[in-house]
Amino acid sequence: MMMKFPPDFVWGAATAAYQIEGAWNEDGKGESIWDRFSHTPGKIANGDTGDVACDHYHRWRDDIALMRQLGLKAYRFSVSWPRLLPTGSGRVNLAGMDFYDRLVDGLLAANIEPYITLHHWDLPQSLYDKGGWINRDNLYHFTDYAALLVRRLGDRIRRWTTFNEPGVIAWAGYLSGEHAPGIRDERRLCRQVGHHLMVAHGLAAQAMRAANPALEVGIVLSQWGVDPASDDPADLAAAANAWDAHETFFLHPLFAGHYHPLSYEVLAQEMPEIRPGDMALIAQKLNFLGINSYSRSVISASRGRLELISGSEYTEMGWEVCAPALRRMLKKISQDYQLPPIYITENGAAFQDVLSPDGKIHDERRLDYLRQHITQVRLAMQDGVDIRGYFVWSMLDNFEWAHGFTKRFGIIHVDYATQKRIIKDSGEWYARLIAANQVE
Ligand code: FCB
Repeated sequence: MMMKFPPDFVWGAATAAYQIEGAWNEDGKGESIWDRFSHTPGKIANGDTGDVACDHYHRWRDDIALMRQLGLKAYRFSVSWPRLLPTGSGRVNLAGMDFYDRLVDGLLAANIEPYITLHHWDLPQSLYDKGGWINRDNLYHFTDYAALLVRRLGDRIRRWTTFNEPGVIAWAGYLSGEHAPGIRDERRLCRQVGHHLMVAHGLAAQAMRAANPALEVGIVLSQWGVDPASDDPADLAAAANAWDAHETFFLHPLFAGHYHPLSYEVLAQEMPEIRPGDMALIAQKLNFLGINSYSRSVISASRGRLELISGSEYTEMGWEVCAPALRRMLKKISQDYQLPPIYITENGAAFQDVLSPDGKIHDERRLDYLRQHITQVRLAMQDGVDIRGYFVWSMLDNFEWAHGFTKRFGIIHVDYATQKRIIKDSGEWYARLIAANQVE
């Protein structure tokens, strides 16, 4: 089936500063919690670090040329907070500012719209040393950082995201400890961090709008669908409860103005401390919502979250491939809440890639994953969900957090030894899709 997209649909690709930039201590950049974490033995697969990563800090011009070759209409990237403010607040590192200035100018010259994310996890280490997201002062440091960037880049960038996946910052940073800062089993703290991130989002949104009322401000949430293991009423109820208690932890405050009543029941003592005024700050109107989605959870009343669905395909991350779940989830959230326009800000797949003798990467499985998911995005639009754009994760293979360089998500292959880039078959396919503005 051939499905056209609206003429102004935004086709893009996404990255994040720590995952691609490298130059971790160059030109006055300060240390981030991800620098510290990756330099701590045992935290990252193979002892990999983002010290060099894709060397994008030096190769950004070539990377823009590649984006152009793909015909991208938009590029979603994040700013390294300690590159701009080495200790998180106070003194500005002008060389860091210049880097983003040039990057944005380069994108605009190539006719690619920049979508900027203020925080994609690389908190300045000095702020973490003062308590980081546990300390409410941090919220104001973030707000100052946001306003500073708006004053500098607000004339050239229209769409601004405060946080990428506050849930992952809180859960992976404070519960599983798989991500920086690597704290484990702090259930209460993890919810408090989640809440503080949301208040910081609200404060920053206010400050950004005050600095430039023409901006569009949004946030990016990780939102996977939740399906029941069977039609059994017990499984249906378990899946519905899992969604309400856990998956709405950010959606509900943002768009209903309070935490879900079931969160209070299920999470009980783990719920965060809320100060007067917090919820109003969190729930202020947004211009768009970014959704990152890769897979789904399947819930059984007796067995909890199922690890393996027989007959399903899994990616290298161990994530089930289930594209129709994306459409169901998008429909559900837009029925349950009064949402602003949605952008799919991340979607993609890690598979092992093989460099063929013909010098190409024939990544049929990634291509097929993208085709299936883009099709479901289009079907969700047909259902009435207001989706304005889609960004592949990722433009380049990159540093996949605790997995280091072992997981390749790119539509462009990176040889980390030589930094040579090769557009994969999925990238060539995506370029054709963009040019035709339709998925087949
Ligand atoms: C998301 C992150 C992104 C990348 C993908 C695979 O949770 O936002 O940086 O790691 O997962």
